[in-house]
Amino acid sequence: MPDSNSSRRNIDPDWWRQAVVYQVYPRSFSDHDGDGLGDLRGVTDRVPYLRALGVDAVWLSPFYPSALADGGYDVDDYRDVDPRLGTLEDFDEMATALHNAGIKVIVDLVPNHTSDRHAWFREALAAEPGSKARQRYVFRDGRGENGDEPPSDWQCAFGGPAWERVPDGQWYLHLFAPEQPDLNWDNPEVHEEFRDILRFWGDRGVDGFRVDVAHGLAKDLSEPLAAAADLHEELTLRGEHPLWDRDDVHDIYREWRKVFEEYDPPLAAVAEAWVHPTRRGRYADPEGLGQAFNFDLLQAAWSAPGFREIIERNLDEVAETGTSSTWVLSNHDVVRHATRYGLKGTDTAAGQAWLAEGGRAEDVDRERGLQRARAATMLILALPGCSYLYQGEELGLHEVGDIPDDQRQDPTWFRSQHTRKGRDGCRVPLPWQSGGTSYGFGAGGAHLPQPDWFAEVSVQAEEDDPDSTLRMYREALRLRRELQGPEELSWEGQDTDVVHFSRPGGWHSVTNMGAAPVTLPEGEVVLASRRLDGDRLPPDTTAWLVT
Ligand code: GLC
Repeated sequence: MPDSNSSRRNIDPDWWRQAVVYQVYPRSFSDHDGDGLGDLRGVTDRVPYLRALGVDAVWLSPFYPSALADGGYDVDDYRDVDPRLGTLEDFDEMATALHNAGIKVIVDLVPNHTSDRHAWFREALAAEPGSKARQRYVFRDGRGENGDEPPSDWQCAFGGPAWERVPDGQWYLHLFAPEQPDLNWDNPEVHEEFRDILRFWGDRGVDGFRVDVAHGLAKDLSEPLAAAADLHEELTLRGEHPLWDRDDVHDIYREWRKVFEEYDPPLAAVAEAWVHPTRRGRYADPEGLGQAFNFDLLQAAWSAPGFREIIERNLDEVAETGTSSTWVLSNHDVVRHATRYGLKGTDTAAGQAWLAEGGRAEDVDRERGLQRARAATMLILALPGCSYLYQGEELGLHEVGDIPDDQRQDPTWFRSQHTRKGRDGCRVPLPWQSGGTSYGFGAGGAHLPQPDWFAEVSVQAEEDDPDSTLRMYREALRLRRELQGPEELSWEGQDTDVVHFSRPGGWHSVTNMGAAPVTLPEGEVVLASRRLDGDRLPPDTTAWLVT
């Protein structure tokens, strides 16, 4: 293990507060061994690219052994690497290469559920009802005369019942796919196991964790199980919902905080918690995970007052707990933001509706979508706090909406009786070159089909084009490093269609979200999301100025 705890000293313990974190979806990033699936050596190969891009950290979606029933979020073994993606030695090499390039490493932790191939679940299946092995999961007898009705009417996130029956007649809970049995966090053994997993990766030198479904672990499983009719929004707001965002989930994170503090600097963590914004702060508490994703902009329409309101609210929220804010426009679960902004509605629901109607490129205003995506990205990069970027957005990639149904992989597609297309379109392997096998992804093809238009948006094509999205991201990240100061923001300007704020030191960001050009404020333009002509800022454009 190359990164012992002692070599971590001299790292700024606040490195995560205003970092640019780049999400790698390993199976679709870069394929070193040419088997059609991206791998960890592929990530190592691309460290120079990541360094040139200028990111501060890489978050890797799961790379653990998995049957890929849910893109790797079905974990067979939390202490190993999927053999198709490499070995632990490959992980160490990758982490060392990233660290040597000044890039931190964040791994994805999936504590709500294991996979159905995990040793614990196999043991549970082989064991008797009521046994110790079954108590690590949520097994119940069914309802009805022969117990052949599920124990409750809870639905899983991908569609269909949240219970699966096993041969001896009992049922187990899965809030996601049936291949993802939920762990029983009332069981101390589960707590112990996860503290140990945190240390396993902490000792290997990782800098932090992204915590999957952080709002799901604690559950009220007392009998009788709540009926779906009781699963009301207002319960969610009180922290008493039987399944989601319960107040007692934070006891788990207070335990984890003690583990994080065993390291110098402490390990960082960010919660993926789809909760009411007023309850997000609890996940970001310094005594808990320390930071939480804010998905508000993902769900926002293209409107300056709307963006301003979200920004203001989030900055107020983080001021309460003392954490830093997080900004996200795309990730592996939603339609890419270049495409969303080219639709009539611009939120994630609009993205799903477009997919449902066939995801046709001709139904998207691709040019407008890309302009808005570039403008929105520059806007978030100028905000105080952390920005999370998703692989390929730096190329301005659109969603691949028209993947043939017989090539879809997302469980959402299968579990929804083929009514929800799911998330494959943002997980298509990246185009590194404008031609060749799988556009340079690897020598062995791509595990999801790549469209012809990838040739124009490959890394190779964009490297040489001074107006490309890639060049804009690189310049924005370089300038951000130079201009970034304290986590403060002042609102500027009066125009309701314009989001204009400044940061300490005279760094201004101005985004025109209206329909007509506006006059640029005083100052020297250091970067714009498209070429400017004179002192006017066109619609759908952001400019950064220094005064
Ligand atoms: C999170 C992940 C998503 C996964 C789900 C279940 O929401 O981001 O990809 O399907 O958790 O693990």
